[in-house]
Amino acid sequence: MTDQREELVKRLFYGTGDTYDFMVEFGTFGCDKAWKKKILAKVPPNSTRVLDLACGTGIVTFAIAKKLPGCHVIGVDITKEYLDIARAKAKTLNVTHVEFLHHRAEEVSFKEPFDCVTASYLPKYADLKTLTQNVKGMLKENGLFIMHDFTYPNNPFIGFLWEFYFKLLQTVGSRFYPQWRTIFYELPQVVHNSTWLPDLIASLRQCGFIQITVERLIVGSAAIVTGKNGRSKDPDPTG
Ligand SMILES: C[S@@+](CC[C@H](N)C(=O)[O-])C[C@H]1O[C@@H](n2cnc3c(N)ncnc32)[C@H](O)[C@@H]1O
Repeated sequence: MTDQREELVKRLFYGTGDTYDFMVEFGTFGCDKAWKKKILAKVPPNSTRVLDLACGTGIVTFAIAKKLPGCHVIGVDITKEYLDIARAKAKTLNVTHVEFLHHRAEEVSFKEPFDCVTASYLPKYADLKTLTQNVKGMLKENGLFIMHDFTYPNNPFIGFLWEFYFKLLQTVGSRFYPQWRTIFYELPQVVHNSTWLPDLIASLRQCGFIQITVERLIVGSAAIVTGKNGRSKDPDPTG
């Protein structure tokens, strides 16, 4: 990650950890919950090792751990404040098959490979070429990479409503949750300017991922992308 990317992540997330779970659910009108359910449904049920990149407070990490009690789930994130919350949750819930590591997703490495790697809301912040290459090296053969993030809606009317919603968050939301002010002001531009979706698909193809799928989510405001770590001779049906 360049200094700029890291600076952006620091600036956006500083001081938001204890209200994150509330904000991500209610700020998206419950869409986040539905999107995470979709991510969860895609995790191969026979997985014994899953890596959750940019795990934040561990919402996806714990959901996988709950669904697959025999699976070791590792969450990785660069924001310590979020990891502290995730670790505290593990203690309170007495979940012993999860582990949390402070590391950059693009560089983290493990001795044992994974059946599946998930990453929710990471793509727009990540160096996608380095990330996909790194994930490829951490996946078992046929292991699945699942990525999810916001996208700017293509439909101009939906785009207008989307911008209006952020204006409301900036003016009204910031009064009640001042620690979210930076996110409310900067996130719309980050999402608007991001080319993560085509960039990720290109990086996955370049790295030899196969069976790449793209699922656009509610009114084009987010997407889930999956790719399999195939052998190099396996064809990519998406071309
Ligand atoms: C919006 S939160 C998402 C948390 C969690 N995945 C979820 O869906 O609730 C984004 C997270 O990405 C993390 N992040 C951003 N860039 C990262 C990177 N390069 N490596 C690891 N974590 C990163 C941030 O620290 C933050 O916790």
